[in-house]
Amino acid sequence: VKMYIVACALALVVLISPAADALDNGLALTPTMGWLHWERFLCNTDCDSDPDNCISERLYMQMADVMAKEGWREAGYEYVCIDDCWPSHQRDARGRLQADPKRFPGGIKKLADYVHSKGLKLGIYADVGKSTCAGYPGSLGYYETDAQTFADWDVDLLKFDGCNMDWTLVGEGYVNMSKALNKTGRSILYSCEWPLYEWHFKKPNYTAIREACNHWRNFDDVFDSWSSVKSILDWTAFHQDMIVPAAGPGGWNDPDMLVIGNFGLSHAQQESQMALWAIMAAPLLVSNDLRDICPRSKELLQNRRIIDISQDALGRQGYRTAKVDTFEVWERPLSKNRLAIAVINMLELGGSRRFFIQAIPGWKICEPQCNVTQILPQYQEMGVQTPRSKIHLSVNPSGTALLTITPIRDFTGSHKVQWEDTSVRRKHTIL
Ligand code: GLA
Repeated sequence: VKMYIVACALALVVLISPAADALDNGLALTPTMGWLHWERFLCNTDCDSDPDNCISERLYMQMADVMAKEGWREAGYEYVCIDDCWPSHQRDARGRLQADPKRFPGGIKKLADYVHSKGLKLGIYADVGKSTCAGYPGSLGYYETDAQTFADWDVDLLKFDGCNMDWTLVGEGYVNMSKALNKTGRSILYSCEWPLYEWHFKKPNYTAIREACNHWRNFDDVFDSWSSVKSILDWTAFHQDMIVPAAGPGGWNDPDMLVIGNFGLSHAQQESQMALWAIMAAPLLVSNDLRDICPRSKELLQNRRIIDISQDALGRQGYRTAKVDTFEVWERPLSKNRLAIAVINMLELGGSRRFFIQAIPGWKICEPQCNVTQILPQYQEMGVQTPRSKIHLSVNPSGTALLTITPIRDFTGSHKVQWEDTSVRRKHTIL
């Protein structure tokens, strides 16, 4: 009996504690939200002929202006993030990184002050190896100098890339930069690409990664296309047994940027990306031109109900639970025993297709009753349902139906549960 109790207690500890300790910097308790320049603006340094789209202080100031003015900050988007191609090709006389003087005449500290004055935070980019992916100076040999420089500039987030590094040293490099950031005493959210650069050679150690990073990229860079978004979903589902348990408050799997509001995705596909990034508890870092975005994409990115799923306090990552016909079902456990459910129609042919709601594996939480809210493709309270409800969802090609389900428990204290089966208009009692 004693052994049994010990075993039960152990099982409980395992169940309620996260897979591993998170990086203990108090940041990213829910997935990071913000804007990141890379997918949309790449390494455009030609400010003479393309001043509006080149990587310059103006770009981040203008994004910060729009984020503060047009509801982005209120919706939760907080970090304005610089990616590759910001620095000068040379370090300064004291070995410090410096911003390109022509494109960042005010320097990064001034830019951080500006972004902070808008109630937002600034992110910057560096690389664990000899040089960045685009050939700018890397941090190898300079981890403490660079961490201190970023802290002196009042930077709030570091995206640390993994190009141009011996793969056997990648892990050590990421851990050392994590320690260097911690040593500065400034709260700097640490966004890693550690597993992505290890996967070609070995299985990454997610326990170690979670102890060092606030989020981590696992897979290829996102492109502005549905095939790219789909490949990320496929990779994630295929590896979910290994990566989902690693996610939780303080540390998240990062499937890369949201490309909503650009050129490549249909509206249904944009809804799918938004829904699935919320289900995956992914950082919501948009890469688009906030100064010029279509109202429907803006509304989708600012959809409070989807953001609530993303930012749910339970902090558990969702996963694929079924493939039915041409559909995929993904589910994410939420706080208060609720469940978020995404049903994607993968058939890129024809019109909308019907999906029988009882085919959702998690639908069983509707015993004896549940309350159902549809969030996508449009908001609709679907009311009280039961395990026997005969509803169909209607899902467009490459679109997603997104729902939340709230179980309604029997609070009478007895084990007798009653529900009304509206489809046959009869009362059932189970004992
Ligand atoms: C890598 C990263 C991208 C981006 C570029 C910049 O490809 O995965 O997210 O930062 O480098 O060069």
